[in-house]
Amino acid sequence: MRIGISTGGGDAPGLNAVIRAVVLSAHQRGWVCFGIRRGYDGLYERGGRYSFAYGQKYDGPDRRRGSPSGGLMPLGPAQVRGITHLGGTILGTTNRGNPFRWPTRQSDGSVLEVDRSQELVDSFRRHGLDALVAIGGDGSLTIAHHLWEKGIPTVGVPKTIDNDVVGTESTFGFDTAVATATDALDKLHTTAESHDRVMVVELMGRYAGWIALHSGLSGSADVILIPEIPFEIEKVCEKIRAREAAGRHFSIVVVAEGAKPANGKVALLEAAKTGAVERLGGIAAQVAEAIRERTGKETRSLVLGHLQRGGSPTTFDRLLALRFGSAAVRAIGDGDFGKVVVFTPPTVGRIPIAEVMGRQKLVPLDGGIILTARNLGISFGD
Ligand code: F6P
Repeated sequence: MRIGISTGGGDAPGLNAVIRAVVLSAHQRGWVCFGIRRGYDGLYERGGRYSFAYGQKYDGPDRRRGSPSGGLMPLGPAQVRGITHLGGTILGTTNRGNPFRWPTRQSDGSVLEVDRSQELVDSFRRHGLDALVAIGGDGSLTIAHHLWEKGIPTVGVPKTIDNDVVGTESTFGFDTAVATATDALDKLHTTAESHDRVMVVELMGRYAGWIALHSGLSGSADVILIPEIPFEIEKVCEKIRAREAAGRHFSIVVVAEGAKPANGKVALLEAAKTGAVERLGGIAAQVAEAIRERTGKETRSLVLGHLQRGGSPTTFDRLLALRFGSAAVRAIGDGDFGKVVVFTPPTVGRIPIAEVMGRQKLVPLDGGIILTARNLGISFGD
């Protein structure tokens, strides 16, 4: 059995732990693994000679394009030694590598999206691969499902710091992102209090408020704004004024990048171009400006950004990632393809990838975390 492993979309802490678990679990069965570089890019590269031999120690990502190694990287126990705690992915990743909508530059300079999926399937077979482990979020899992429909035996592994994949209690990367954001909130508290300022911090999560909610509660934010609860800026200011009146001259406002005012729009960094994913961003600056205008408080904003995607995975994320990786190999062993492994505590199960595609797991408004936050007096601006 020869297994191809792909990491697609934005990186998340824990990707390398999944790769290691797949490789070691496969090795136990006498199977071999090949990492596909940068999403599926590697399957489009010519070459075919491998830069790594089994037994050679992994010594950092090999990012050479057009190298004699081609786009596949043989992965044995030696190549995955000491990578469980490493952030990022040793395979590289891309969020512009959809084989069904491959951006291709035309002779007139324009970019057209072309279906190159059959080329990918042919390359997969030419490399003698028997199964694919596709590690990714909603977008990558949708691609994985379509590749399975085209005949590639595929198992998906859900990844994203946003925690918005349906069917799984958690995705790896989320816990680490929350820890990073909570740490940032702790740090903001001391400076906000020293200067009697309002600090507005924008966190990632796309259209779901999981990171903002969990870190906002853990990091003792005064206001948490999430996409699931459109906010009234006046309610936010009421909370800040009430704190002021109670002698608390500083406030911490957490804003999810996808949060939006009631009757308003989400803030976009740049308009979505054809086929491109919308880039959210800018809401913290808007909220900070509105707070300053209405309350007269000195208010600063910051965007935590890609710090949330970096660093060493937490213990929880390492365990989840290792469990997902070994579960994916068990699924291959059972010949159970077209499935994604999911965390349904206390077990790791499998559901059809089709059940996950194109859907988002949003924060339930009647959930325990929202309830707890409200009981603690945190404002959601509603
Ligand atoms: O999906 C993960 C994520 O980090 C989102 O939270 C964020 O909106 C997006 O990716 C950022 O993408 P990029 O790395 O392309 O800027």
